[in-house]
Amino acid sequence: MPSEMTFVDHMPEQTRAMLVQLMESQAYRELAAAHMFGYGLRFVPDKWMKFMVWHIREEAEHYDAVAQMYRRFTGEEVEPKVRERLAGKPVPFAESWIELAMAQFLFDRGGFWQLREYEECSFVPYREVVQKIVKEEAGHQTLGEKIVVEQCQTGRYDEVKQALFEKWLRLGLLSFGRPGTAGNRYAIERGLKKRDSADCMKDFVGDIRPAVHAAGLRFPDPASLKLELPADIDWS
Ligand SMILES: [Fe+2]
Ligand SMILES: [Fe+2]
Repeated sequence: MPSEMTFVDHMPEQTRAMLVQLMESQAYRELAAAHMFGYGLRFVPDKWMKFMVWHIREEAEHYDAVAQMYRRFTGEEVEPKVRERLAGKPVPFAESWIELAMAQFLFDRGGFWQLREYEECSFVPYREVVQKIVKEEAGHQTLGEKIVVEQCQTGRYDEVKQALFEKWLRLGLLSFGRPGTAGNRYAIERGLKKRDSADCMKDFVGDIRPAVHAAGLRFPDPASLKLELPADIDWS
């Protein structure tokens, strides 16, 4: 078991660089979520308005927590890095209520499972921020799932739901990064994360399966997702 790290001192350069990259990606994901859900507010029915506003505020707070950690760790601001990334890889915006619900269900749940791998991160400050975010993300995606299932069961979205599901399933799976890489192995060895991305993807797919079925959706042919995926995911 690698020892815990609290300070940058004595940290191997590769570990330091990996943590910087992790923080930048997380900051990007949080700000992207705040922008996407903020944009989506126009589609939210009154019944869910308070919830969505609360969700957007939490995403902004997650971003802020990561930005503060980044500042302490690097002495620099993460904002220019995140802005650059958002410009190069813009957030896909949801364009309807059902799509926003899909995003909340799958984008947030992908992020949730991905972050859970860092709950026991050997770098203590990262672990603390992750634990706060994970707790709040649990609420977002649980409600996202409830809304998706409820809305899909009305039959109102039969024409569009499957395509939206596949789009956001892919974006959810992208949270995990490529499986089986040297980076994965290094992060596990150093105790930064628990398992390879392949294992997280399998858990994620298993976790959403009951809701996917309840909503009358089906998993697509994995090749159509155009992602590098482990061969042994159970797509039933
Ligand atoms: Fe978040
Ligand atoms: Fe969220």
